[in-house]
Amino acid sequence: MKFFIDTANLGQIQEAQDLGVLDGVTTNPSLMAKEGITGRDNILKHYVDICNIVDGDVSAEVIATDYDGMIKEGQELADLHEQIVVKLPMIKDGIKACKYFSDKEIRTNVTLVFSAGQAILAAKAGATYVSPFIGRLDDISTDGLNLIAEIRHIYDNYAFNTQILAASVRHTMHVIDCAKIGADVMTGPLKSIEGLLKHPLTDIGLAKFLEDYKKGN
Ligand code: E4P
Repeated sequence: MKFFIDTANLGQIQEAQDLGVLDGVTTNPSLMAKEGITGRDNILKHYVDICNIVDGDVSAEVIATDYDGMIKEGQELADLHEQIVVKLPMIKDGIKACKYFSDKEIRTNVTLVFSAGQAILAAKAGATYVSPFIGRLDDISTDGLNLIAEIRHIYDNYAFNTQILAASVRHTMHVIDCAKIGADVMTGPLKSIEGLLKHPLTDIGLAKFLEDYKKGN
C-alpha cells in the first residue's frame, strides 16, 4: 500500500519524506487555507514547492465546479509539474472532466467519494485515483472501512485500473485496516504514519539491550 500524506504543511511533508516511506501528497483547499496559503499565485507556487520535496504524485484540487472551469484550471495545474494529479470533485461535471483528462492521459483523483456507486462512476470515467473519505463516514456513524471493502470487491470484479486512495484517514488503525482490505493507497496526517512506529515492547526491549551492552563495556 502506498503512503500519501494529507497536508499542505511543508515541514510535515519533509519529515515524512525523510522517513523514507512517503509515496505522495494529497491536499485540498481547506488544508491550503490552514497553512495560510491564499491567492492563486501563492497556491500554485506552493504546489510546486511540495513537488520539489516528494518524489511521487501530488494531488492539486480544482476550485471550479463547472466543466469548462475545471478543464481550464485542471490543465493549468497539470502544466505546473509532472507530479501533479488533478483532483476533481465527485459531481456530474467532475466526472465529465475526469473523462476528458483521462483521454488526454492526465492523471486524476476523484474526491469526496462516499458511496460505491460514485466509485464505479469514477472508475468508468478513467480516474487514476478514487478517494473515499473513511473518517468523515465514521463521523456520521457509517462504517468507512466497509466502503473501502465494497469498492475493492467491485474494482476486482472488473479489473478496473483506478487505484483506491483511502482518504480522510484519522489514525493508525485506519491505516492497518486499509492495508488488510487491500486499498492501493492511504492518505492521512503525519501522526497516522508515525504512530505505526510505536510499541511499548520495542522501547522496553531497546532499553534493556542498551543496559546490558553497558554492563559488558
Ligand atoms: C483527501 O484527499 C482529503 O484531503 C482528506 O483526506 C480529507 O480528510 P479529513 O476528513 O480529515 O478532512
